[in-house]
Amino acid sequence: MIILAIETSCDETAISLVEAKGGFARPVFRVLAHALSSQIAIHQKWGGVVPNIAKREHGKALVPLLLEALTEAKILQPKKPAPSDKLLKKTAIILEREPDLLINFLEEIPKIARPKIDAIAVTYGPGLEPALWVGINFAKALSLWWDKPVIPVNHMEGHLFSSLASDEKNDKLRMTNDELTSKAESWKRKAESLMHFPAVALLASGGHTEIVLATDWLKYQVIGRTRDDAVGEAFDKVARLLGLPYPGGPEIAKLAENYELRITNYGLKTGKKDTRPRDSASVLRDSTFRLPRPMINSGDFDFSFSGLKTAVLYLVKKLGALTETDKIAIAHEFQTAAVDVLIAKTLAAVKKFEAKTLVVGGGVIANRELKRRLKEELANISPKTELLLPDPKLSTDNATMIALAAYFHSLKKKYRINPKIVASGNLSL
Ligand code: KG4
Ligand code: ZN
Repeated sequence: MIILAIETSCDETAISLVEAKGGFARPVFRVLAHALSSQIAIHQKWGGVVPNIAKREHGKALVPLLLEALTEAKILQPKKPAPSDKLLKKTAIILEREPDLLINFLEEIPKIARPKIDAIAVTYGPGLEPALWVGINFAKALSLWWDKPVIPVNHMEGHLFSSLASDEKNDKLRMTNDELTSKAESWKRKAESLMHFPAVALLASGGHTEIVLATDWLKYQVIGRTRDDAVGEAFDKVARLLGLPYPGGPEIAKLAENYELRITNYGLKTGKKDTRPRDSASVLRDSTFRLPRPMINSGDFDFSFSGLKTAVLYLVKKLGALTETDKIAIAHEFQTAAVDVLIAKTLAAVKKFEAKTLVVGGGVIANRELKRRLKEELANISPKTELLLPDPKLSTDNATMIALAAYFHSLKKKYRINPKIVASGNLSL
């Protein structure tokens, strides 16, 4: 089946077209289009995502992105505009709270023929409710125009499945359809060997930090979660303390990568050259930069990141004006602390439940150091457990992952045309 997926839960507007087949036994996915428009530059001046700005920007971006995706998938066909008054009226009601979207919709959608798709998938939570509603209402309007069912998808489930569409060696999302077909064999092999149960999932994003135990397809139990801030949120807040732009995760990671390079020139804030040994370990042992690893020995799978962020706040206050080297040392130590805790808890869950697969997803999984250490430490602790890592493009928010989750749900349940779907900001797995 071909699924058109829509994602608007936060600050990325995304539309994907994914061909899915094989069922639970042999799921195979082919990404026909992966369109995405990021609002990061718009939110940056506020230091974080502003829900109503996000809503407005989704409204503007959705129709152009849909046209882009249909074109990329080569399924955009023109049609003479002749919608009935009844259809126009119903559309106006569905999109009454999204004026920009309604204008774009009525301008463009009547001109295109119903595309060859089987279902429309849309994120209905968790996320920012005003932003979620735009995607939901768009899905409902399209459902009405094209007579296709809507599959509501939990965003976190999307992150959980994001690695199933990735192939580390090939950048599929940039390949042409011909290239994709020629890769289909190796792709299929990978998909078939995926997800053996029990599986443990680490989901780490800007809004969530969870460890999930999956005993079968779509059967989950959240066994650990953050008690306060999500790890991505901590990255973002610490970045702000260091004077770095939003989103902070990639900024902190970039600074931390400089650590080994810069540490050889480590100088104290006072301008005096440091006389301590120059290897990184010695500086890390310096109690000035040492940060806590909250709850690392708590014996459960829960997290807490707000104390870590507060520890950085105190450190920054103590140091006063920060030099570039201070920032690098703090970024490195913060990242190491966050990764230490994520890995300790995740691997403890892998061991306890004898997981056959460890699957990871969410924006923070884009962090290269986290991936490197996950691979290394899993191989030591449980070499038989297979690690599924998403392609970097599928770690942060996107609609391809939403299509994947929708496919699995469609195998279990029949969905309706223009259904009642309500945005659910705090939806859990
Ligand atoms: O999954 P996502 O795109 O959106 C949510 O659903 O929240 O995750 C965004 C989060 C942000 O907090 C961002 O700072 C973080 O992922 N992030 C990273 C990296 N890239 C993005 N955190 C650490 N290292 C990265 N390389
Ligand atoms: Zn996300």
